[in-house]
Amino acid sequence: MMPKVKGFSLFLCGLLAVLVLAGCDVERRKSDAELGLNAQQAAGRMLYDNYCDRCHEPYSSRGKKGPSMKGVFKRQYLELSGLPANDDRIADIVKYGRSKMEGFGQVMTDQQIKDLIAYMHTL
Ligand code: HEC
Repeated sequence: MMPKVKGFSLFLCGLLAVLVLAGCDVERRKSDAELGLNAQQAAGRMLYDNYCDRCHEPYSSRGKKGPSMKGVFKRQYLELSGLPANDDRIADIVKYGRSKMEGFGQVMTDQQIKDLIAYMHTL
């Protein structure tokens, strides 16, 4: 009996260690409230997660398939294309796409693109 119990607690310790280490590696996702998002920005975040996150990092400057969107509106010009970083330009890129990026004009309404951009201003 004893060795079995010992084995199990060792297993639990191991599991705990793995969970703690994994927690250190993957940063915990912040809630909308923690990020201080209003309703429109929170709606935009959902769109971003659905359509953009797989190719663009929102909170890290690391590149994925496309360049990071961290601080995208904080600079005057977009990093890659050198286009002005303003609402109109970004809305066009989202609608019509760029060379290696598809457009989302068919899947998002103008209002949704506005919500998305409102969120991107918080990055
Ligand atoms: C399948 C991957 C993919 C998805 C999904 C995607 N993009 Fe892109 N995006 C790219 C790539 C690749 C580029 C670089 C295009 C180029 O060659 O100029 C890019 C470029 C951009 C640029 C211009 C960056 C610059 O510095 O010029 C913006 C802004 C942008 N994407 C925003 C978005 C937003 C917002 C979404 C979600 C609606 C999105 N992208 C979805 C791959 C993607």
